[in-house]
Amino acid sequence: YLNYRVPQTRRDIIQTLIKGLQRMEYRGYDSAGVAVDGSGKDHAASISLYKKTGKVKALDEEIYKNNSIDFEAELDTHFGIAHTRWATHGEPSPLNSHPHRSDKNNEFVVIHNGIITNYKELKKYLVSKGYDFESDTDTEVIPKLIKYLYDNRESNYMSFSTLVERVIQQLEGAFALVFKSIHFPGEAIATRRGSPLLIGVRSQYELSTEQIPVQYNCSNSRTDEQEKNALNRRGSTNALHSVHDRLAVEFYFASDASAIIEHTNKVIYLEDDDIAVVVEGKLYVHRIKRTAGEDPVRVIQTLQMELQQIMKGNFKAFMQKEIFEQPESVVNTMRGRICFDSNTVILGGLSDHLKEIKRCRRLIVIGCGTSYHAGVATRQILEELTELPVMVELASDFLDRITPVFRDDVCFFISQSGETADTLMALRYCKQRGALTVGVTNTVGSSICRETNCGVHINAGPEVGVASTKAYTSQFVSLIMFGLMMSEDRLSMQQRRLEIINGLQKLPELIKEVLALDDQIKSIADELHHQRSLLVMGRGYNYATCLEGALKIKEITYMHSEGILAGELKHGPLALIDKHMPVIMVIMRDACYKKCHNALEQVTARQGRPIILCCQDDPEISKMAYKTIELPHTVDCLQGIISVIPLQLISFHLAVLRGYDNCFNSATLE
Ligand code: F6R
Repeated sequence: YLNYRVPQTRRDIIQTLIKGLQRMEYRGYDSAGVAVDGSGKDHAASISLYKKTGKVKALDEEIYKNNSIDFEAELDTHFGIAHTRWATHGEPSPLNSHPHRSDKNNEFVVIHNGIITNYKELKKYLVSKGYDFESDTDTEVIPKLIKYLYDNRESNYMSFSTLVERVIQQLEGAFALVFKSIHFPGEAIATRRGSPLLIGVRSQYELSTEQIPVQYNCSNSRTDEQEKNALNRRGSTNALHSVHDRLAVEFYFASDASAIIEHTNKVIYLEDDDIAVVVEGKLYVHRIKRTAGEDPVRVIQTLQMELQQIMKGNFKAFMQKEIFEQPESVVNTMRGRICFDSNTVILGGLSDHLKEIKRCRRLIVIGCGTSYHAGVATRQILEELTELPVMVELASDFLDRITPVFRDDVCFFISQSGETADTLMALRYCKQRGALTVGVTNTVGSSICRETNCGVHINAGPEVGVASTKAYTSQFVSLIMFGLMMSEDRLSMQQRRLEIINGLQKLPELIKEVLALDDQIKSIADELHHQRSLLVMGRGYNYATCLEGALKIKEITYMHSEGILAGELKHGPLALIDKHMPVIMVIMRDACYKKCHNALEQVTARQGRPIILCCQDDPEISKMAYKTIELPHTVDCLQGIISVIPLQLISFHLAVLRGYDNCFNSATLE
């Protein structure tokens, strides 16, 4: 957060940073930290760092315990940074948390989201040059590297942004970075590659359609004179606010709009490799090199998102709220796209490419985690409705295999956030090979949205809970709608299409029926919460339900769980079954019913005590079950939307009962 000519007490500044972190708590974190100017007379001559493991609240309390901080000092211009960390390298600890620093004097401090894949090489080099490391993180190479470049600069005129340019030229991996330095007081630098970053602007005058022209000025080739000019700012045409000379302004750098939305709804989304610099209250964006076809300006956008939208209402956690939102979120996904009178489906974002898609050789559906499961869940119906071969791929594995992709392939990228690094890399991989790329995302303006040729926005609304729930069912519905759109002119499929469209129309009511079973589901969770492991078994249309249910359980309850294809039972997993092993089976009335029945017999023959998700009024199943959760019946290819909800609820209740409330990452939104 940077205030320029907006007097703030140090207390206000720290509060703005802490509040921003609290708004991001839902993302999950294990430690937090803040860097602000020191408390001396010349406040910008030093930087104070405060870091703490655990909740943001604990950090807040720690800061206010500190007697040496002059909270009432009024700072006309100041730049402070803050971060919450979820450990990837090195355990959660104050030393491993961000901001990371260049040295004991805190000359440069940095916050980082993402992962630096070549950090070992950089660290080795910097250690050989005498730089001491204090953490186990990949991030720490960044402040050390900038200090190394600063210590060895060839000219006194080297600007902060030049130093940052040189740093990012050495980095591999994904990052969103914000830098602060005692050598460049009141100056902020932010940059990104592969991790999201936006800048909120709050200004005295009405911001509407301002654009910031991007500069292409490679500092490596700048002369001393040019660099001096850069330091004196780069002329007046390429900065936001350049014409409002004595402007008071505040800038908010964030990885997510929810951290800043209460301060401003005017934001600029940075592109990969943009370097954004704020000096003397003016914002500049530049890039090291120009690539063909890229946008030469960054536009200020007005966000429509309301804070209320991300509040969790009366629910215990965002995850629970989002599970209960599904009757509405699936309607929002379908709204304006399905005409139930004429049985037609139009996905506006794909219309222009429909002919090309129909001519393709195959569809490749790519995603990670839950988004991948949405592909698994809809694969069979997509094969049926499109009559095309459909491959469903985990983005990381797809890239590891260097999978052959051709110009006549159509590749779908499923992602709630639209920012998942592996999915984004797979997208770029397919694009390079000439395939048509289609995004299925929930985040407008995300990287996947921007970089795909066309796409479908799933319109599920912000998914604040860290475990994906409503995005899954909306991705599911979106992919089904795509299949329906593809099969519109196939006479032989009209009956099937009609059945599915009717099913979609009734879906919200059926979801409500399932949600009404919450108490019963909670009592099952009560019984299971001391267990170490939980198997989830099914096949056909419901195999994805099992994978997704097991993922939710693992992710938020820390209980071992495995989704097992019932057809594979006799090839190994049966060995796990006995009267002590909790098993959930999904047995719905579809083409796999008989086969699932066989699996059930195998489980009961081993004295397993299955809890069965089955259709209402299925006495045959009920009599073999230890317990049943009876679900409303729908069309086979939509049943997975209904059957996943009890598993979302079970995982939620198990997590609460097991004391893992932090997994929901519910932000305090008072
Ligand atoms: C699980 C979960 C993750 C995400 C995965 C992909 O609850 O949330 O498995 O589904 O990280 O994220 P997106 O969909 O944003 O690409």
